[in-house]
Amino acid sequence: MPAKIDMAKFAKFCKDNGFIFQSSEIYGGINGFWDYGPLGVELKNNIKQAWWTDMVRNPPPGPDGQEIRMVGLDCSIIMNPNVWVASGHVAGFADPMVKCPKCGASIRADKVQFRLLSKDGTTSEAVALSCEADNATDAEPILKDKYAKLAKKKVLPGGLQESPVHNATAVPADWKGIPVPCPMDGCDGQLSEPRAFNLMFESNAGAVQSDDNKVYLRPETAQGIFANYRNVLNSTRLKLPFGIAQTGKAFRNEVNPRNFIFRSREFEQMEIEFFCHPDESMKWYQYWRDLRKAWYSTLGIQSANLIPREQGKEELAHYSIGTTDIEYMFPFSDEPQELEGVAHRGAFDLTAHAKLSGKADDLAYFDEERWNNDGQSGAVPTRSFKEWLKSNPSAADIGKYKFVPHVIEPSAGADRFTLAVLCEAYHEDQVPDAKGKMEERIVMRFHPRLAPIKAAIFPLVNKDGMPEKATALYRELKPLMNVFFDDKGAVGRRYRRQDEIGTPFCITIDGDTVSGDVVTIRDRDVIGPDGKPQQRKVNIKDVKAELLKAITPGG
Ligand code: GAP
Repeated sequence: MPAKIDMAKFAKFCKDNGFIFQSSEIYGGINGFWDYGPLGVELKNNIKQAWWTDMVRNPPPGPDGQEIRMVGLDCSIIMNPNVWVASGHVAGFADPMVKCPKCGASIRADKVQFRLLSKDGTTSEAVALSCEADNATDAEPILKDKYAKLAKKKVLPGGLQESPVHNATAVPADWKGIPVPCPMDGCDGQLSEPRAFNLMFESNAGAVQSDDNKVYLRPETAQGIFANYRNVLNSTRLKLPFGIAQTGKAFRNEVNPRNFIFRSREFEQMEIEFFCHPDESMKWYQYWRDLRKAWYSTLGIQSANLIPREQGKEELAHYSIGTTDIEYMFPFSDEPQELEGVAHRGAFDLTAHAKLSGKADDLAYFDEERWNNDGQSGAVPTRSFKEWLKSNPSAADIGKYKFVPHVIEPSAGADRFTLAVLCEAYHEDQVPDAKGKMEERIVMRFHPRLAPIKAAIFPLVNKDGMPEKATALYRELKPLMNVFFDDKGAVGRRYRRQDEIGTPFCITIDGDTVSGDVVTIRDRDVIGPDGKPQQRKVNIKDVKAELLKAITPGG
């Protein structure tokens, strides 16, 4: 992956090759919504499948070598609105927004960066300059440039002192009263005070549109898991610690969707809620942070591009005791950006749902094993926990047997990871064309497990029994993986087409296949001494096993 990618060129590449299209493009599109094309849907499905296989069906052993118990769910997108009251989303899932009454711009307040310019470093007679940027570091050169231009045009005097940069949600006390100018080009309006804007999409369930039947499109998949905690426990007889996983759509009316599919209004999450004893929660927090970072590397993301970052106390969401963001060095930004959050949610969610639903008993956990063991050893006097409660034991004693589990939540974005995979796979290089002239080409180096097409099958020529052999191999592989049959043009051109869409293996059927059942496998990512992808002869009966090995976890 190059350190920087021209995102407009990259988006065009993704469109031209059927990875990602703008949603409803024929009508001019719609901001924050994207469609996955024929190759994109394969890629994203492979990502979700890899996550499900590696995290739900076959997670690695826990910190003490024990098997991890994990089950899945598929909850409805629209739930009882009380779910979102308890979770805190109705009251608090909001971005602070500022508006410009003059040009109508509506901007997330923390994305408006501004500074004061003054003769003497004080706020008296200071003028403010603003711009739109993610943080003060990004804003610095923009604001410097803005000031230089204004000084050159003599709109402002040169040599003014420049204050540190702050965003519109963190205005220093002695700057209060100094209006924040609109950062839009050519607008001299002043921004309003920040106001909260809830990010949940609303709808109505039923024929009448009223507040009584207002519902929300879920902004995260997590709450469906908490709401089903008791159902899962009862139907599976799981014991702590265990995880419940879910993948699915989430919707957020993002104020500023941007960077292609990085921040959209409709996206997919891959979330685990891992329930454990409170005393063991830090151990599991560490386990999931390490495991989740390592997982990305098993799928071809370079470890150096993955940066775990512990959130500062001031950043933490209302539910979180601690959160580590696994950040990725996306090539559209100078700073690493969040790919996944691993949060220690404590007992927040189950406690909140217990309170609002009145189902405290359902949302707690009874450690039956401990109760029975202590009963047998005589540590508690009777075998019936309910009976024992009547003797008014202390809260601390009850808590040994019945408590609200703590939750560790690794929460990943399927679309963000798809974008990271596309960026990481993207390579530009130069190769000679048919006339020997160097031309630029793109090679997508997807990990075989994620590649939309696993292998392409080429009969060298359309005669001499080669098409028949090629078709037989194609039909043998097709039920097991996505394979492509191509009998058009020179083999070199066919390789080029597959390199561009990231197919790791090309299999040529030639005279040796007809006479001796031997095919040539070209392995895109194994470079031979001549600097070209290595080609090797393989018996046709071994092809299936070789490809299956390459696309199997750890293969
Ligand atoms: N249940 C916790 C939760 O939803 P989050 O950090 O808001 O936490 C988790 O979201 C992940 O979902 C993020 O790390 C990111 O990968 C993905 N995500 C969040 N908002 C997104 C958006 N607007 N567009 C694409 N992906 C998004």
